[in-house]
Amino acid sequence: MATRPHFDPEQLPLGLQPRTIFVTGKGGVGKSTVAAALALSWRDAGARTLLVELDGQASAASLLSPRTIGYEPTPLGEHLAAMRITMLDALKEYARLRLKVKALADRLVSNPVIDQFTQAAPGFRDLLILGKLWSLSAATDNRGRHVWDAIVVDSPATGHGVGLLNMAGVVAKMFPVGPIATEAKRVDAFTRDPKRTGVVLVSLPEELPVTETLELRDQLIEQGVTVAATVLNGLLVDRFTDAEAAQASALEAQLPADASPAVRHALETVSWEHGRCVDQAAERVRLDAGLDEPACVLPYMFAPQLERDHLTALSQWLSPAGQEVLMRQLAGASDGPSAAAAVHAAAGETS
Ligand SMILES: Nc1ncnc2c1ncn2[C@@H]1O[C@H](COP(=O)(O)OP(=O)(O)OP(=O)(O)O)[C@@H](O)[C@H]1O
Ligand SMILES: [Mg+2]
Repeated sequence: MATRPHFDPEQLPLGLQPRTIFVTGKGGVGKSTVAAALALSWRDAGARTLLVELDGQASAASLLSPRTIGYEPTPLGEHLAAMRITMLDALKEYARLRLKVKALADRLVSNPVIDQFTQAAPGFRDLLILGKLWSLSAATDNRGRHVWDAIVVDSPATGHGVGLLNMAGVVAKMFPVGPIATEAKRVDAFTRDPKRTGVVLVSLPEELPVTETLELRDQLIEQGVTVAATVLNGLLVDRFTDAEAAQASALEAQLPADASPAVRHALETVSWEHGRCVDQAAERVRLDAGLDEPACVLPYMFAPQLERDHLTALSQWLSPAGQEVLMRQLAGASDGPSAAAAVHAAAGETS
């Protein structure tokens, strides 16, 4: 069996050695964004990385490239590729491997009865997808090296994300013997092996997402799935001290009725932003209290739409050096270089 290379932990995003990571969380919290940033960050640390989208999922890969992504890994640059696994493609491949006759396998799989059967039995659909991920993670090249050091899966939102990882175990119990049992047991062992797989939970610094993240974490742990890291996404880094915010409020209260709307708006913004930071800090404390390790953090990027440059910046924030700078800034450190400059310096860039 091929051994996996060991990477320098100082370079690795979230301090995680490459493996297959399922990025999940509540709808809209930034799963695809974090998946794309994590893939970039692992690639930059030297890991051959595959970013995987699943059918029906909005796309992490489209944040990195306009290329159409299909069932075959599409290169997105050196050591980085993306693919999309659909249930039908995975079933076709499985049937081809079993039946050995491509035309027959394709005819069988496109048969609407089989299609309806697998759509109606989500256990088999999930087993097929997980089976494909297992085979990707185990694939070796002609020198016996793993083709992929890291696989990042942009996984479905909470609920289905839990189901996906649990499904192999459920199917294994339903079919204790036979070829399906063998496949289910192998895939189940894969999803529960912390050296080969793990979950990255994404949350937002708000009440409901934090509560749901803690619930989801408990559920996953109960199922024997490893939560490798939790990412608190979209944090505002406070630009104002309590005293400055209080001063802005006092000034705002004293403004004459005919004061410039721009000045009024600026003072309101100071209070609003500072208030949000205080609320977010409280949610961060609540989240960390429920975790074994404090959550990693990602800043809110001020942009109407995240572009490739934003993804590059987020991937740098995920590095240990980026996390250290961010944590210091969130703790109110005002000395030293700005967070952004320090992260770029840590990444070896010159400005
Ligand atoms: N750190 C961030 N700063 C600013 N905007 C962000 C950040 N993270 C995510 N977003 C934005 O939030 C929105 C939701 O992000 P994303 O699509 O990654 O979430 P998701 O969890 O994958 O959603 P879905 O459940 O629909 O798949 C997007 O518009 C994205 O650009
Ligand atoms: Mg998404």
